[in-house]
Amino acid sequence: MGRVTKDKGAGTPSTPRNEPSYSSYLKVSELTSLQEPLSVPAAHDEMLFIIVHQTYELWFKQVLYELEKLVSLLTAAELIPAFRLFDRVCEIFRVLIQQIDILETMTPTEFNRFRSNLQPASGFQSTQFRELELMVGAPQSDYTKFFKLDPEWKNTIKVRLQKPSLRDAFLKLLLQKKLLKKTDPESILQALLKVYDGGENTALHNLCEYLIRFDEQLLLWRFRHVQMVERMIGMKRGTGGSLGVAYLQQTLQKKFFPELWEARTHMGGLSY
Ligand code: HEM
Repeated sequence: MGRVTKDKGAGTPSTPRNEPSYSSYLKVSELTSLQEPLSVPAAHDEMLFIIVHQTYELWFKQVLYELEKLVSLLTAAELIPAFRLFDRVCEIFRVLIQQIDILETMTPTEFNRFRSNLQPASGFQSTQFRELELMVGAPQSDYTKFFKLDPEWKNTIKVRLQKPSLRDAFLKLLLQKKLLKKTDPESILQALLKVYDGGENTALHNLCEYLIRFDEQLLLWRFRHVQMVERMIGMKRGTGGSLGVAYLQQTLQKKFFPELWEARTHMGGLSY
């Protein structure tokens, strides 16, 4: 990375002053100084726990960045470039789902060596995860209850609430294409059946498939997460104060494009 010149004396490459080196460009020393385990005596697996969570937050940042672009592409009805970004976001989520396997190399015994230090911290407080849910299309009314968790949260989420979500952009596109007049669940369902059964608008059909694929990825992440949580802490309460597994199981109902799922039941062909 960066133009590397030969150091005349020792024959080893060096980077000229003011030009980026690998470490300076990527801020490697800052990045690798951000892991601060709390356990005394040190619990070996706490480093893994921190790095896995930090990696998630970095990927969440990238996904939010891509979703922002996706919303603007859909708003401009530019579907082909949008598909490339949908592929990217889905690939990132595939990695995020798989990453749980790494954390599951930690046993509950190891986890219990440092778990008490975490209270009351919890993934529950991940602002980027909440932003992600809102940006995809979670109903805004669900989110005001989280405001009290963290004052910083309030501002980030307030800004997010003012911007259109992926779901908003999708519905706007259906309105523009005159497939939709009102945005009640029944009208949306009928519009989707026209897209699927009509077979005329291939681009919209592809878009619907990307949206349901992404919705499914989010559900698969939730499912893997809750299963891992049960494997780690059984039916104990979470460090964030919720009922733990019992709470997380309820979140498996969260679908951001419920009409796309519902449409399957009503599509042509056999009715059973
Ligand atoms: C040993 C590993 C983990 C355990 C035992 C665990 C446990 C829990 C529990 C019990 C909750 C419910 C809230 C609470 O009361 O704390 C929760 C929520 C959450 N966790 Fe984890 N978690 C683990 C790893 C992760 C990882 C790696 C991430 C990645 C960012 C993550 C992200 C989240 C998120 C986003 C929520 C909120 C889910 C929602 O409200 O829909 N967790 N976790």
